[in-house]
Amino acid sequence: MDVPFSTARLYFRQFREGDEQILFDLNSDEEVVKFTGNASMKDLAEARDVLVNIILPQYLMGFGRWAVYRKEDDAFLGWCGLKKVDDIDLGYRFFRKYWGKGYASEAAIAALDYGFNKLNVDKVVAHAMVENKNSIKILDKFLQRTKIIKEENKDVQCFEVTREVFFEKLKVES
Ligand SMILES: CC(C)(COP(=O)(O)OP(=O)(O)OC[C@H]1O[C@@H](n2cnc3c(N)ncnc32)[C@H](O)[C@@H]1OP(=O)(O)O)[C@@H](O)C(=O)NCCC(=O)NCCS
Repeated sequence: MDVPFSTARLYFRQFREGDEQILFDLNSDEEVVKFTGNASMKDLAEARDVLVNIILPQYLMGFGRWAVYRKEDDAFLGWCGLKKVDDIDLGYRFFRKYWGKGYASEAAIAALDYGFNKLNVDKVVAHAMVENKNSIKILDKFLQRTKIIKEENKDVQCFEVTREVFFEKLKVES
């Protein structure tokens, strides 16, 4: 299995053809997609479309949303990763039953570390709806707030972090 990186409790792998079902399961929960700007997925065809046209092409550039697994029991928790748009964007999405255990923060640090150390990225950005308190909490730990923009009539907080600032923040955290 392709495991680009792992942490104390988690390991990551690329999504691949055939992962429609796990993507569908994750994205069909309305609470999970509440602040993502996506509607919940309706069927496997939609999951396949996202897999083939959005997720898989990112790997060709070295980036991507990686599937996140728990080491102790190989449970699929959700995804986390870096997506190349204009900038390199950090994102994550986990099943509700795995919230509140620190997995998303652990995954976000690992993805940032991989981006700065292995992919030679200089800066990572992120966006979260102002209402998305759980996500903002994670981003406040490792990135810096920049501006607030409107997206589909919602206030969205923008963040960014450079390599230097990220490693400074990591030192303070540990
Ligand atoms: C955003 C999202 C990933 C955040 O998940 P999360 O579980 O709240 O975030 P973390 O992994 O950082 O967990 C933090 C919590 O775990 C708790 N925790 C428990 N064990 C822990 C441990 N070993 N280490 C660290 N934290 C731990 C922390 O105390 C913290 O809870 P608190 O905020 O009540 O103090 C999750 O809400 C989600 O998937 N949402 C849907 C998709 C989404 O909105 N994505 C973001 C779009 S911008």
